Amino acid sequence: MTAGRRGPVLLQDHYLHEKLAHFNRERIPERVVHAKGTGAFGIFKVTGDITKYTRAKLFSTVGNECRVFVRFSTVGGEKGSADTERDPRGFAVKFYTEDGNWDMVGNNTPVFFIKDAKKFPDFIHTQKRDPKTNLKSANMIWDYWSLNPESLHQVMILFSDRGTPDGYRYMNGYGSHTFSMVNSKNEKVWVKFHFKTLQGNKTLSGTRAEEMKGKDPDYSQRDLVRAIEKGDSPKWALKIQVMTDEEAKKFKWNPFDLTKIWPHKEYPLIEAGIMELNEIPANYFSDVEQAAFAPSHTVDGIGLSPDKMLQGRILAYPDAHRYRLGANYEQIPVNRPVKPVHNYQRDGMMRVDGNSGDSPNYFPNSFDNIEADKDYREPAFPIDADMADTYYRNENEDDHYSQPAALVGQVMTQKEREATIFNIVESMKGVCGPKKDEIIKRQLSHFEKMDSDFAKKVTEGLKS
Ligand code: HEM
Repeated sequence: MTAGRRGPVLLQDHYLHEKLAHFNRERIPERVVHAKGTGAFGIFKVTGDITKYTRAKLFSTVGNECRVFVRFSTVGGEKGSADTERDPRGFAVKFYTEDGNWDMVGNNTPVFFIKDAKKFPDFIHTQKRDPKTNLKSANMIWDYWSLNPESLHQVMILFSDRGTPDGYRYMNGYGSHTFSMVNSKNEKVWVKFHFKTLQGNKTLSGTRAEEMKGKDPDYSQRDLVRAIEKGDSPKWALKIQVMTDEEAKKFKWNPFDLTKIWPHKEYPLIEAGIMELNEIPANYFSDVEQAAFAPSHTVDGIGLSPDKMLQGRILAYPDAHRYRLGANYEQIPVNRPVKPVHNYQRDGMMRVDGNSGDSPNYFPNSFDNIEADKDYREPAFPIDADMADTYYRNENEDDHYSQPAALVGQVMTQKEREATIFNIVESMKGVCGPKKDEIIKRQLSHFEKMDSDFAKKVTEGLKS
């Protein structure tokens, strides 16, 4: 509304105010990690009987199904960054089970760089931008890895061509941590989750991935949307590894150490189900940007473990969601379980679901006759310590080398090994400045402890 055809705009034009003011508020904070991502809905179907391990209702019968929402992502880049960066890929699955939401917030790698939650912010700072130059920094990256040798296993995976998967359909997903399952007899086992791609594993070479960053920064998003829209629904088989508590006590490594795998020969994969993604959300912001996954979202029969990184994540995710989406983030449709949740939490910003009306807002009370169902109680577990202290995780768990050595020496083919060396050399060539020699020498010493031939080839590559 203007004062005449050519005159200024009137203050009373509140439609204009609404439009411009809302536009100013369109962005919400991007995720502090895993900002660039792609999401899809689908179906999970139970195909294997694992009831002897879990009483989770989802797994109660072969053939049982539930809807899922999956968000794939890269880790270090911003929301507009390129999809083919060398980076782990997030593999977050929300199972909308009849007993509430179960989130498996994993990666495409079975291990991680560190095993102590306190190190996570420092580690992520090294993967993001230098505080002064605002550039990604090979110095920060290799300085940190060389000072934290427990990262070596994940570094080997990252610099193999698995570090640049060919989109999201051709990669596996892993819960990575050790979780637990409890059966109807209240017996508990330790569990690892694996999603095996049924499309087969496909990766990009380092050179091709670099090229695609420029040619199509949204390479993985485009690939997933195109495949699903033409009816080519990608599928993954969910498998579990199971370890009893007795086995855990005798295991060669700490079974709750996120930098280690459980060898498949000793702990074979057990079939549990098939996941199929068949629907791209109608609105990206609504479902993908507002999705809130949390490892604390478990259901009866599936639980946590003493893995110290996992324990840290139990705090981090709901806290991140309250900051990014607000205290009532669980009510956003994509985050809502299929059966409504009734609790005594009330009010807060953006409480848009009726706020539980006139029902009591305290517990216990004399009006709603609600009692806690003891069947849902998690079994008590023993704690093998009577002393709290600051324990450094690498102090008496310093075998950072034998699993990566097995990976490069026995699992990788000659070609994969060469690609890994090439990719490492390309990245380490970026280390510069007064600390260059110190950082490179320290990292080479870790390669040397892992595999001297590998170390030699990286050394030669850095000289050429
Ligand atoms: C103590 C260690 C860790 C901390 C503190 C941490 C923290 C976070 C935070 C704050 C977010 C953003 C959440 C949001 O705003 O929605 C996030 C996202 C994510 N993290 Fe972690 N993280 C840790 C380790 C891990 C590990 C070990 C994995 C995989 C095994 C992982 C997988 C993911 C995934 C997949 C996402 C993206 C979820 C989505 O798609 O929305 N994180 N993490």
